[in-house]
Amino acid sequence: MSEIIPAEQALDRAVSVLSAGGLAAIPTETVYGLAADATNGEAVARIYEAKGRPSFNPLIAHVGDVASAARIADFDPLAIKLAEAFWPGPLTLVLPRLDGSPVHDLATAGLDSIAVRMPAGFGGELARRFGRPIAAPSANLSGRVSATSAQHVARDLGDRIDLIVDGGHTPVGLESTIIKIEHRGQRAPALALLRPGGLAVEEIEAVAGMRVERAASPGIQAPGQLESHYAPDAGMRLNARAVEKGEALLAFGPDRIDNAADAAAIANLSPSGNLREAAANLFAMMLELDRVGARTIAVEPIPEQGLGEAINDRLRRAAAPRPDGAGG
Ligand code: TXA
Ligand code: MG
Repeated sequence: MSEIIPAEQALDRAVSVLSAGGLAAIPTETVYGLAADATNGEAVARIYEAKGRPSFNPLIAHVGDVASAARIADFDPLAIKLAEAFWPGPLTLVLPRLDGSPVHDLATAGLDSIAVRMPAGFGGELARRFGRPIAAPSANLSGRVSATSAQHVARDLGDRIDLIVDGGHTPVGLESTIIKIEHRGQRAPALALLRPGGLAVEEIEAVAGMRVERAASPGIQAPGQLESHYAPDAGMRLNARAVEKGEALLAFGPDRIDNAADAAAIANLSPSGNLREAAANLFAMMLELDRVGARTIAVEPIPEQGLGEAINDRLRRAAAPRPDGAGG
């Protein structure tokens, strides 16, 4: 099993793991990341190996400051505005990749764009101390829910990686929102939502002063966003109006559906109906109900606004049919 060290004491150890081409699971404000030196092809290859992830799926490069981001990606004024408003934080920008960027081709899957973000908390501190971009997908086995605690990481990856940094539960609980800035000829750049996540799209629109385009099927926009993702062992049934026999209930808000008392187990994402709290609890509660061994997890309706957009996206993926080995 890999070594687990509390975040307060882990910085030097994490730097030496990354410098040696190893893998460290690290907390960020969104979810735990499986970190490696983004400039080291063999280290990046280890990430794919450990996750069992299809290798065409590109990784986010994590940086500690905007200057480091500007060495690997081409920032136009709109990108700078968004980075200044939301970094460090749960926003990933997909931008043209700069020629001569030290990020290894394997990390960007050979694309001419690159996904960059500056995480808050330990991830950001580590990126500054390490001084190179850090490639880090969510620290879960491919196709499983993203880990929001060191224990979740240990269960999925404990025997496959060098170090787990324990920073407790990640505060946001959902992966970052991914936005692509698209230049189409002479027209003003457009913003495309590749993945709803921990930053509400409405907040991005307010700062950008323009609409964010949502693809008809956001699932296929980010290469790793396969339909079946985040799958618990139990089946998932969304927008439940009643509980069926043998089901566990993932509840939301103060009011329960009619026969909630018949559920094999209940977890409430947010008793007060707060979407931020619900996001932070989502993955841990899906795993908690999964462990009860219920056939299906019924989910109460969750409003499709603010962070509800990302919560519902993850729930729909968890409910989708599951080809083996899909997702990231
Ligand atoms: O919050 C997060 O974003 C977490 C933490 C660890 O930072 N990371 C994360 O990484 O969720 P991952 O690899 O599980 O998801 C990143 C997504 C994938 O779906 C990938 O396909 C997409 O970002 N992506 C990466 N580079 C891209 C690019 N150049 N163009 C489009 N999508 C890209
Ligand atoms: Mg992932």
